[in-house]
Amino acid sequence: MLEMLSLQERFHGLIRGQILVEEPLALHTYFHVGGPADVMVFPADLGDLKLLLKTARDEAIPVLILGGGSNMLVPDDGVRGLVINLSRTFLDIEAADKRIRCGAGVRMSRLLALSAMRGLTGLEGLTGIPGTVGGAIKGNAGTPTGAIADHLDWIRVVNGLGEERVVSRDALGAGYRRTALPSGSVIVDACFTLAPATAAEIRGTISRLLVRRNLTQPVTVRSAGCIFKNPPGDFAGRLVERAGLKGLRHGGAQISEKHGNFIVNLDGATAADVLWLIERARTEVMMKTGVALELEIQVVGSPIAG
Ligand code: EPU
Repeated sequence: MLEMLSLQERFHGLIRGQILVEEPLALHTYFHVGGPADVMVFPADLGDLKLLLKTARDEAIPVLILGGGSNMLVPDDGVRGLVINLSRTFLDIEAADKRIRCGAGVRMSRLLALSAMRGLTGLEGLTGIPGTVGGAIKGNAGTPTGAIADHLDWIRVVNGLGEERVVSRDALGAGYRRTALPSGSVIVDACFTLAPATAAEIRGTISRLLVRRNLTQPVTVRSAGCIFKNPPGDFAGRLVERAGLKGLRHGGAQISEKHGNFIVNLDGATAADVLWLIERARTEVMMKTGVALELEIQVVGSPIAG
């Protein structure tokens, strides 16, 4: 703690953004689960981010990058070192011709709203995906109708030395719910190329997908979206349902009664409750169907393969 206070003191005056000590991560994740971050910083701008990354690298301080916190499970004893929270940085967004350029901290819902307003089609398949554009690109978020990397032109990243680089879509190495960005790269900016359509058409598709999502997913309860990747040719939700696990409760967490690939925080769930249900689902699905479910969410500090 003493060490972290001195880290806070070191950044004070150098960093323009907000610095918090012992900040509960539950307040920054959709699950509402997770212990404190030793130090959490909201960089005010690119200069702050570069300085934070470089200092952490020079001094071997562990770093966790947090976007919207929508796809993440944080341990109950929290995270040591530095958490860089990007949800209030890189919020600029602009459309010109068939392109939308936006900062990594922009919410996915805002990106979709602007694409509809400007009559630019392509991103509707991402309707309802929570979190920030940066987080969505990192894990190539998507639905069966498309993934975010499909429409990317390029992204701009900063590495641990504080160097900026533009990465084209082809060089991103995007696959099913993954990209091949080097660890330590932080996405700050992205540009999408879309196709023209009428705003009414795009809004119609978005509304239809939202209605479907509300009918099939537990959208009013805290969760981290889908827990597992869909295995080739099948659906994780279907397999969990077939294993008879929908509605199974452990502590304050429950495998959703509505959708088998969601775990919901019903009442003060801990990370341990959620992890117990994840392990139970993996074991039962493996025993009953022979399929090894892989995690889609990021489980911080866990040896479970993602
Ligand atoms: N199904 C079941 N039981 C369940 C849930 C689903 O049998 O409990 C069956 C459904 O009947 C359907 C199939 O599984 O035949 C697929 O279900 P769904 O349409 O709900 O889609 P999904 O593959 O489970 C994917 C994305 C979601 C996205 C929806 C939009 C992944 C891992 N998940 O879910 O993304 O919202 O499509 O339709 O690709 C997320 O990324 O966090 C996420 C939730």
